[in-house]
Amino acid sequence: MIPTPDLSHLTRKDYDLVYEPAEDTFILLDALEQDADELKKLQPSVCLEVGPGSGCVSAFLASILGQSSLYLATDINPHACRCTIATARRNKSEVDVIHTSLTGPLSTRLRNSVDVLIFNPPYVPTEPEESQRGQEHGQISSSWAGGFDGMEVTNKFLCEFEAVLSADGRFYLVAIKQNNIPGISQRLSKCGMTTEVILQRRAGREHLFVLRISRDRTS
Ligand SMILES: C[S@@+](CC[C@H](N)C(=O)[O-])C[C@H]1O[C@@H](n2cnc3c(N)ncnc32)[C@H](O)[C@@H]1O
Repeated sequence: MIPTPDLSHLTRKDYDLVYEPAEDTFILLDALEQDADELKKLQPSVCLEVGPGSGCVSAFLASILGQSSLYLATDINPHACRCTIATARRNKSEVDVIHTSLTGPLSTRLRNSVDVLIFNPPYVPTEPEESQRGQEHGQISSSWAGGFDGMEVTNKFLCEFEAVLSADGRFYLVAIKQNNIPGISQRLSKCGMTTEVILQRRAGREHLFVLRISRDRTS
């Protein structure tokens, strides 16, 4: 079992501003652990986590793959950027963090070069205004507020991730039932992507899924 990264440097004050790891974080760690051997075989050069929050997931990935990969992360919450850098250091790894939305200014330079892409997005259905406010101001509400059907931010990312994914790259996406998993899968298959549910679990009122998305080799 791969240990959960050390987060003991983060305080209650940090978690007033930054998403505290919860069941959705832990299912993502479990999915990465389940895929650890395949991920190592892939020998990723570039890993990108969108929305790292505390930095727990990026530090975990770095503990699986070691420091031969480049770890990048982007978050719209400046406190999340700070915490991610601190968590990487605490766990003896290095993550370069950029304060921006989604792939932001990296999209051109990273064209077809991200081997492991991760996003645990704000997936909770909320009023559209709550999602828009969170996105505009990069506050902690941007951790969960996903607007109508919880898909406002994920939908934007589904339009842009393909440009940065490498030929053999994998994209791990967290979603809940209300996000319409079959709808996501159908939409992605139209642009030559395969979607697999690699882990699912009920946690309180949420039915969580981890999707692994990659280029369809059969088409
Ligand atoms: C559910 S939290 C996940 C945090 C962490 N990855 C985890 O699993 O514990 C979602 C994260 O996405 C960030 N986020 C929301 N919208 C974003 C966007 N447009 N671009 C980058 N990050 C975003 C939030 O600030 C938050 O840190």
